[in-house]
Amino acid sequence: ATTLGASAAEKGRYFGAAIAAGRLGDSTYTRLLTTEFTSVTPENEMKWDATEPQQGRFSFTNGDRILNQGLSNGSKVRGHALLWHAQQPGWAQSLSGSALRNAAINHVTQVAGHYKGKIYAWDVVNEAFADGGSGGRRDSNLQRTGNDWIEAAFRAARAADPAAKLCYNDYNTDGINAKSTGIYTMVRDFKARGVPIDCVGFQSHLGTGIDSSYQANLQRFADLGVDVQITELDVQQGGNQANIYATVTRACLAVARCTGITVWGIRDSDSWRDDNPLLFDGGGNKKAAYTSVLNALNAG
Ligand code: G3I
Repeated sequence: ATTLGASAAEKGRYFGAAIAAGRLGDSTYTRLLTTEFTSVTPENEMKWDATEPQQGRFSFTNGDRILNQGLSNGSKVRGHALLWHAQQPGWAQSLSGSALRNAAINHVTQVAGHYKGKIYAWDVVNEAFADGGSGGRRDSNLQRTGNDWIEAAFRAARAADPAAKLCYNDYNTDGINAKSTGIYTMVRDFKARGVPIDCVGFQSHLGTGIDSSYQANLQRFADLGVDVQITELDVQQGGNQANIYATVTRACLAVARCTGITVWGIRDSDSWRDDNPLLFDGGGNKKAAYTSVLNALNAG
């Protein structure tokens, strides 16, 4: 096929983009979005600070704009993210102990409940593991409420929206390493104990190289009985950008339970990074990386 979304669909997958409510009035942006992509993820609009700016007072206006943009285009919507150590509202940052735990679980219940039946997959917990060689949890206010905070969040999300796939999502998990192995061990334990988890998101914010075990890492998670998704793909511009994009695309296609790929923005000018990491340039023109992904989706 001739678009990312249609080509991915021929392989039984979606091809998505993170989008921002504030850009939906930009006609080039929405043209690329509706032409090329079959899934959307809110870049910021469903995070804790955006959806519960004051405790117990929920604000879904911008999240709903993303949802409706996606649904009206026939796209999947990935919810991002119910609980995260970053982008918490000030009131949550100042809580601890059982007050924070209760507030966090209520947040999961209310937000997942608001979007019940509409979300393809939720990033229930984002970035809870530490970087480096420990393979352990990241220290955070949420972690200090007790190691079981992640499973409590997944159970609350399942109760609030039984139809949504529930994902754990993280970065620096682009191969078999201490951090990805820590997450792997948690997922294996959750599956063994019946904690509801359906998918693992691999953000894939990449530089000038890619770990040779990228695909094998996806596969080992899939072998635990969860779906895997590439959730925030972007790649530093340089000699290897197009090749790295193709490598990631081929890895997803090679893993039966890799259900889709999301790039973290549409044009380079929309990116949170300043190294031109996306598939379209600032003018909305297709880059070599775009053609590389399209060809990889259409191969074979
Ligand atoms: O909306 C406010 C605006 O009102 C204010 O005037 C302005 C001044 O700083 O800030 C605006 O908020 C910014 C927001 O993006 C919306 O543009 C925040 O400062 C800024 O920190 C925030 O950055 C986001 C970042 O997450 C926050 O950690 C990026 O857009 C977003 O791309 C990025 O996404 C994360 C994923 O959620 C998780 N994985 C990593 C990824 C990249 O960091």
